[in-house]
Amino acid sequence: MPAKKGRVFSGARPTGRQHLGNYLGAVKNYVAMQDEYDCLYCVVDLHALTTLETTEDLRQNTMDMALDWMAAGLDPKKCIIFIQSHVPEVTELHTILSMVTPLGKLTDLPTFKEKVRENPHNVNYGLVGYPVLMAADILLYKANFVPAGIDQAPHIEFARETARSFNHHFNTDVLVEPQMKATQFPKIIGIDGEQKMSKSLHNDIEMTASAEETRARVMMMKTDPARIRRQDPGNPDVCNVYWMHKIFSTPEQIHMVDVECRRAGIGCVDCKKLLAENINKAMEPVREKRAELEKDKNLVWDILKDGDSRARAIAQATMEEVRRAIDLP
Ligand code: TRP
Repeated sequence: MPAKKGRVFSGARPTGRQHLGNYLGAVKNYVAMQDEYDCLYCVVDLHALTTLETTEDLRQNTMDMALDWMAAGLDPKKCIIFIQSHVPEVTELHTILSMVTPLGKLTDLPTFKEKVRENPHNVNYGLVGYPVLMAADILLYKANFVPAGIDQAPHIEFARETARSFNHHFNTDVLVEPQMKATQFPKIIGIDGEQKMSKSLHNDIEMTASAEETRARVMMMKTDPARIRRQDPGNPDVCNVYWMHKIFSTPEQIHMVDVECRRAGIGCVDCKKLLAENINKAMEPVREKRAELEKDKNLVWDILKDGDSRARAIAQATMEEVRRAIDLP
């Protein structure tokens, strides 16, 4: 096998079954990177606790997300898939990094301010430290690259600054400054036609939903609001269904929809049926893989356990160096 181009780390909060937005925006990219880089993909269950009211779904959501990742093509022979809390070294590094973090830097972050706005009555200590824990994730594994959505840019910049600050403070070079690999994919809008596709907004289409469920969700999609009757000409430029055709349909179909929508040659119902068919075609192999993986209930946990121990070996080696750099007695 040719030498890989560096180490990649990415994490996602355990949100359970993944939707098409997760798939197109993140998971496909994870899969694409596993051949070229040494990749670690982490279910960040501790991060989930910062905003969680209950943990009752945490276990199931972790398993569902990991299963979907593997169904989409993450291969435990090529990459490490693991659970954040199973490598407790991350919390030790988090504590150490917190000592070189000015508090003001955390409270100034736009992501923090947004969380405070969303939930002013639950501004816990962990929430303020969210980026420190994320920096610990990345730095613990000496990742060179972090694939993430653009919204994570301030966090990754924070991780870079934290690595620099630690190294400077303790006159060392053990921590590696990561680079962000911004996901090029534009955000996927939900079936409401307005907001980013998201599980909590209930505007999502699950990537391994059945063909019928998918069709039903696509049929609910909002289209050009100015096209009220079948005979009204539509404007594909403002229609999310057209936008999804651009992702899932052939160039000929995209062209056909563009032309025929504008002259009311095709109605929204037929346009959606075609889209649903194409989504189903694209996702069929992923669904089959998921069904196969699901047959063995222990499989996903065994794979995660193996990932945990491989990740932990890297983490322990880094912590050795970190403790030595600080000269902890
Ligand atoms: N903060 C990220 C998010 O909300 C999740 C995350 C945690 C992460 N640790 C990470 C992403 C490390 C990349 C690298 O999406």
